Amino acid sequence: MQPSTSPLAAGRRLRMPLARTAAAATAMALSLAFAATAAAQSATAPGATPETSKDYVPDVGQEGKDVIWVPTPQTLVDKMLDMAKVTPKDRLMDLGSGDGRTVITAAQRGLTAQGIEYNPDLVELSRRNAQRAGVADRATFVAADLFQTDLSKADVITMFLLSTINEKLRPTLLQLPPGTRVVSNTFRMGDWEPDASETVTQDCSTYCTALLWIVPAKVDGKWEVDGQTLHLTQQYQMLSGKLGKADISDARLKGNEISFSANGVRYTGEVNGQTMSGTAAGKGSWTARRS
Ligand SMILES: C[S@@+](CC[C@H](N)C(=O)[O-])C[C@H]1O[C@@H](n2cnc3c(N)ncnc32)[C@H](O)[C@@H]1O
Repeated sequence: MQPSTSPLAAGRRLRMPLARTAAAATAMALSLAFAATAAAQSATAPGATPETSKDYVPDVGQEGKDVIWVPTPQTLVDKMLDMAKVTPKDRLMDLGSGDGRTVITAAQRGLTAQGIEYNPDLVELSRRNAQRAGVADRATFVAADLFQTDLSKADVITMFLLSTINEKLRPTLLQLPPGTRVVSNTFRMGDWEPDASETVTQDCSTYCTALLWIVPAKVDGKWEVDGQTLHLTQQYQMLSGKLGKADISDARLKGNEISFSANGVRYTGEVNGQTMSGTAAGKGSWTARRS
């Protein structure tokens, strides 16, 4: 294990750069900043105290497979779940679940939640924390590599990883069912802009921003809309194109919900595979079929 040369790590008990490649050097510095700044924040999970987790007490900044361990401040965990508008019907997955706090908080809100964590000690700690919080039936933990994990059953995915890791996950996330919510603590997803971003100021000094993405339906291509051709060009949730000869504007997706303006008319509707339907303001309903 190489000691970090980052000045950010100077004088800290940071034992591990998280990035393994040269391309991730910036990410590594950021990650070490994680640890240097977050150490002052509480590392205690809901329902747990360091005293009662006597078998294993993790260190903020300790080695992880692709990312070191730094806990998300509880106020941001709450904000991330609020932004995803979670309900008890949702199944949540936290990728790199650390001490289990996000999974446990979700379970406390009635969700079925699963943590994926590479470090088996953190997995055991999370299970103890879930027991202690009384939610072990709904909060479960798997010792696994997040890159080898099937994400397809999740309605909500949370993560506190790095931009480089998020970008690597992006193609997989974009294949999830439209409407799946992805929430990241602080780190972005390359050129896939978030649908929403919020920063908490209370009880949070660093890594206090939550970013939300909603997996968009796939609509790129040609559609027939009530006798006219709708050409859509899709860049993640953003759309451009033409309805007949008119440019469309203010066009985007939110999961399966689509909206755009053309010829001064606002179209809103829902995508359902090869068809779309909805309302054209002031004109009545519209339907579309892939052509
Ligand atoms: C920054 S911590 C976030 C912990 C937790 N999600 C939170 O927000 O408090 C990142 C976690 O990811 C874990 N991790 C790193 N690489 C991983 C991988 N390839 N698969 C699963 N977990 C991983 C680390 O052990 C660490 O617990």
